[in-house]
Amino acid sequence: MVRIAKALGLVILCVAVLILSLISYVSLRKDSLFTSSKYYMGGPRIMFHAGFRSQFAMNFLDPSFIPLTNALNEELQGKPSRWRFNKTAFYKQSYIDIPTNFSLTKNSVRVGQLMHFDYSSHKYVFSISNNLKSLLPDTSPIHNKHYSMCAVVGNSGILTGSHCGPEIDQADFVFRCNFAPTEFYSKDVGKKTNLTTFNPSILERYYNNLLTIQDRNNFFLNLKKLEGAILWIPAFFLHTSATVTRTLVDFFVEHKKQLKIELAWPGNIMHDVNKYWKTKNLSPKRLSTGILMYTLASAMCDEIHLYGFWPFGWDPNTGKDLPYHYYDKKGTKFTTKWQETHQLPSEFKLLYKLHREGVIKLSLTHCS
Ligand SMILES: *[C@@H]1O[C@H](CO)[C@@H](O)[C@H](O)[C@H]1NC(C)=O
Ligand SMILES: *[C@@H]1O[C@H](CO)[C@@H](O)[C@H](O)[C@H]1NC(C)=O
Ligand SMILES: *[C@@H]1O[C@H](CO)[C@@H](O)[C@H](O)[C@H]1NC(C)=O
Repeated sequence: MVRIAKALGLVILCVAVLILSLISYVSLRKDSLFTSSKYYMGGPRIMFHAGFRSQFAMNFLDPSFIPLTNALNEELQGKPSRWRFNKTAFYKQSYIDIPTNFSLTKNSVRVGQLMHFDYSSHKYVFSISNNLKSLLPDTSPIHNKHYSMCAVVGNSGILTGSHCGPEIDQADFVFRCNFAPTEFYSKDVGKKTNLTTFNPSILERYYNNLLTIQDRNNFFLNLKKLEGAILWIPAFFLHTSATVTRTLVDFFVEHKKQLKIELAWPGNIMHDVNKYWKTKNLSPKRLSTGILMYTLASAMCDEIHLYGFWPFGWDPNTGKDLPYHYYDKKGTKFTTKWQETHQLPSEFKLLYKLHREGVIKLSLTHCS
């Protein structure tokens, strides 16, 4: 009896040990997966930390990312100066009719016309008012405009501490996204702004729908800083911006004369823009504002440098945690909310490919 119990105990112990060793073997393998040179050439400058295991890093580890990450690592290790502009490749791209897609014009709409929204159900409509029509440009603001060197500045936290400001300011034309602030960040992001996008929902989020005199003053003063630039207002992408668009239109009708700002109101352009990117195998539910700005720039510029395009929560040079936006308050958690609609890692992959081909220059390190 005792002998049987002993034998049984031994068997149970053996099984337990076996299970335990199996578990540790699996977790060991998992760890080596993240650090093995096969998946990510683990040079001294690319480090790994908890953030790397987050969901987007997992996307980044997608097998199709492996050649990319190897190339990226080489790039960061050594000679970023190796990048050469390939004019042939740049001009080989084909484009949408950007000047007409850039903005609706007075002649392209009539009062009472019902607009739909690119990303909303067809049932939602927006009636073009006299006031809105009065704010439309007579001709496309970029008709016959061409620049030799453009910078497109995304809002990624990778710009923090980059000292890229002076380099960005050397561009002839600087594109920015979502009314991003430059004032306290100019060392890293530059001062110059020639175009910034303005989603009407910004009024809701940052200016209390312009409900108080103070909100209106704040907004007015921030617009003043942009004088000479183009405000690019995508009002017909989402029906949720319909109400704030009316507030915005009223504000501009009142203050247009005091503000030397050019307004541009793109119509329903996303169908054509999406079609273009689909030919490059990129078809997310929604393209990011950043890649949309690059799309515009590609028809207006001879050469394009991209800054602040890096959708991951860790610095590729140091491995340190990054905020989502360069202007986020310290301690703001990297957000993954964009994953519901955007495919920033796929966009990044494509832009990095263009960088490797010399079509654009993607800045991922500090500027000297
Ligand atoms: C530039 O791009 C063209 C077209 O994509 C390609 O045929 C050519 O080899 C590239 N030149 C260099 C120097 O990479
Ligand atoms: C955008 O450009 C395409 C041509 O590439 C044109 O067919 C379309 O009408 C334009 N869309 C708008 C809203 O101007
Ligand atoms: C771009 O904006 C800067 C001011 O931010 C201005 O000095 C410059 O003339 C503008 N360039 C163009 C091409 O509009």
